[in-house]
Order: sequence, then C-alpha cells, then structure tokens
Amino acid sequence: MIEYDKDAIVYPYITELLRSGVPERSGFLAELEREAEAEDIPIILPEAARLLSVLCELKRPKHILEIGCAIGYSALLMSEKLADGGSILTLELDEKMAQRARANIEKAGKTDSITVRCCDAVETVPTLTGEYDLIFLDGPKTHYIHMLNDCIRLLSKGGLLIADNVLYKGMTADPEHVVRRKITIVKRLRHFIAAQMQRQELETVLLPLGDGMTVAVKKAD
Ligand SMILES: C[S@@+](CC[C@H](N)C(=O)[O-])C[C@H]1O[C@@H](n2cnc3c(N)ncnc32)[C@H](O)[C@@H]1O
Repeated sequence: MIEYDKDAIVYPYITELLRSGVPERSGFLAELEREAEAEDIPIILPEAARLLSVLCELKRPKHILEIGCAIGYSALLMSEKLADGGSILTLELDEKMAQRARANIEKAGKTDSITVRCCDAVETVPTLTGEYDLIFLDGPKTHYIHMLNDCIRLLSKGGLLIADNVLYKGMTADPEHVVRRKITIVKRLRHFIAAQMQRQELETVLLPLGDGMTVAVKKAD
C-alpha cells in the first residue's frame, strides 16, 4: 500500500503508477528505507531514486560528489554503479547523521569507495578540486544557487548534475501555495532552476519526479 504525501507534486494515481514499476528493494538498502521512514529522515523518494539509479547505470561514473548524505542511502545506492576503482565523496552537516552514514557504509562494506565528510557544504564545495562525473545536489535547498558555479567547475565534460527537491512540494511552481516561512527557499529554488537552464555550459531538464528534479549534462564545449 502506497502512502501518499499530500504535498506530492503529481496526482496520487500518477505516483502510484510510477512507483508500481519500481521493483521492491531487498537487503541493506531496504533496511535503510525502513529506518528512514520510521524516523522521518528525508531520503530520496522511490521514483527519483530509480532515475538516479538509471542515470548511474548509463554513466557508470568514476567519481561522484554528493551534497547532503543523511544516513548514506543515496550514496550506497549510487555506489552500486560506480566504475571500477571509483569513489564517492559525500558531504553532511549534521554530525549524528554523518556518524550514522559512516556506520551504514561500514556495514555495507563500502568504506573503500565512500567517504563521508562532516562539514558545511556551502563552505566546502568552493574549496574542492578535481573532477566529478556526477554531482548529486541534495543538501541545503536555499544554497543550491550559491553552489551552482562550483558544481559546474567541478563537473567533467559529459558529467551529470542532478538536483533533488527543486519543485519543493509544488511551491516552486505555484506562488499561491508558498507557505510564508518557505518564501526564501522557494525564491532561491526558482532562481536556481532558471540559472541552470540558462547556463551555456549545461543542457538541463526539469522533471516532475519525486519532489522535482533537474538533470543537467555538462556540454563537451
Ligand atoms: C534530503 S537529506 C539527504 C538525503 C540523501 N541524499 C538520501 O537520499 O539518502 C539532506 C541532508 O542535507 C544535510 N544538509 C543540510 N544543510 C547542509 C549543508 N549546509 N552542508 C551539508 N549538508 C547539509 C541535512 O543534514 C540532511 O541530512
């Protein structure tokens, strides 16, 4: 039985169809899904997770940067599709979450390929160097816009920039439904979507999947 979020961005019957096609997970990731649900930890929604997984299968990234780790669910999901010798650097502000993610990564036997750094991504991302084939932006929504330039700088040519929650329960698309205390987040998300769409270096699509996602590829030139 699917539980519907009243703030979902598409009609429940659409979500039902989208989710019905996603094979139920087993093993450790299923355990993490249950843990996240029981404790209300916001991990990526099933249909959005499926897209992430499909894109990773297509891309087989060698180096991934994730902004917003929580308990390590999406990092572990992406790690299944890493190229040989690949690595994931995932950034998490909350010390307790970072510790739980490290414990989960250890349990899954992925300490060689996934590193959790407990830090404020807004400060850390500008200091990063190197190239990433996939960047998953799933941390502080208010600051996506502030991290866009660095994400583009850090992305390899042909690399993917995937941002989650950009429709933010539909509020980004409909000014009538913006709750007062969310006005800044929503304005910044609108700005982020528009900026990403306009960037010449990227080809971007906005998708009404999960809580809204943008998928951008860095063009060859
Ligand atoms: C939606 S959750 C991430 C879910 C995870 N990607 C998944 O799907 O399994 C967002 C996470 O970003 C973290 N976060 C918020 N602000 C941050 C910041 N400035 N720097 C790093 N992490 C941050 C939160 O603590 C939270 O754990």
